[in-house]
Amino acid sequence: MPHQDKVYWENSYSIGIRSIDIQHHKLFDIVNKLYDLEESENIKEEIRDILYAFKDYTLVHFKDEERYMQTIGYPDFEAHCKLHEKIIEGLVNIIRTPASLSIIQTKMKVIAKRILIDHIVNEDHKIGIFAQGKGIEEEIFTLDES
Ligand SMILES: [Fe+2]
Repeated sequence: MPHQDKVYWENSYSIGIRSIDIQHHKLFDIVNKLYDLEESENIKEEIRDILYAFKDYTLVHFKDEERYMQTIGYPDFEAHCKLHEKIIEGLVNIIRTPASLSIIQTKMKVIAKRILIDHIVNEDHKIGIFAQGKGIEEEIFTLDES
């Protein structure tokens, strides 16, 4: 069911690096699950599962994005990683603080907007521009965990 707080993908969010765009898109899908929840006996577990899934996938995504930045020699690498750390701190805070579904939904809306929209549009976009400037068209991605 559509919920006013859901975040919807727009073409302008694409940074032109397909594997990163796909991961961003997946983060939208995970956070939107929070807005499909209805009060039930298992609500606590359901909220927790979604928050952990979101945090875990954000960690995977940041790691991949950071590896990509290093691979292409992105000059703002350090500063960008610090922004990622801050976002993770915010997520961990939400997970640790007991709250009602509606409060969690509101807080996650703020985080989701910061991660999925402001961060993508203002910061990740610069990675795409840098890669294009260097003539890197194909992403150099590894899914190797080492
Ligand atoms: Fe990023």
